[in-house]
Amino acid sequence: MVNNMPAKGGSAPGGKLTLDQVKNNPNIKCFLKQTDLFLDAIGFTDHGQRHINIVADRAGTLAQKIGLNKNDQELSAIAGYCHDMGNFLGRTYHHYWAALLFSQVFMEEMDGSSDLATIMQAIVTHDKNEVKIVSKVSAVLILADKSDVHRTRVRKKDIKNIKSDIHDRVNYSVTENKLSVDRGKREIILRLKIDTNITKLLEYFEIFINRMTYCRLAADYLGYKFVLYINNFKLS
Ligand SMILES: [Fe+2]
Ligand SMILES: [Fe+2]
Repeated sequence: MVNNMPAKGGSAPGGKLTLDQVKNNPNIKCFLKQTDLFLDAIGFTDHGQRHINIVADRAGTLAQKIGLNKNDQELSAIAGYCHDMGNFLGRTYHHYWAALLFSQVFMEEMDGSSDLATIMQAIVTHDKNEVKIVSKVSAVLILADKSDVHRTRVRKKDIKNIKSDIHDRVNYSVTENKLSVDRGKREIILRLKIDTNITKLLEYFEIFINRMTYCRLAADYLGYKFVLYINNFKLS
């Protein structure tokens, strides 16, 4: 089971950049803090420590569950942790900003390593599905990021306010979220429990159809089938 717990970090082999190093970098901390403030100011759902730690953990765990090597597991977790940090420079191109910021911070450290390009490409690919998926790390990050829908992403506290915005309403309606892998059946499975007193299923798809389609494409790339259950009803 790929759980919803924050990542603990870990060591990559061969003296390579690790998630712990990335987390402790002062520039990365600063970008993430600014991004959280910016997205809060424009009323977006959580893209801060909650989201990035869940995505980093899901990406690393998913990479491990589908049999990627230790290095790709670490690259997936690092890309997951940094994928949204460009938002403070503007939402529309946040995936490009994040990739470029990452390279500025770690260019010297990762000089000459293809790992740098792998992480940058995964970060860019997480957001725009016109970008072709050409690496397993990118595909893993897409699944980890786009599957993170849950009521704990909603920042507003007042239920009236929450219900007035479709993104908040849909996120808030999701009370359970589990991503798992069945290697035997070659399935990557997302199970959601949605409170239909808060949102109608049609609204969920209004908001998330692109994300679910992107998950399907990412799973396809990995040689898996993406399977979605909502309230124990199999949808794909
Ligand atoms: Fe993003
Ligand atoms: Fe994200």
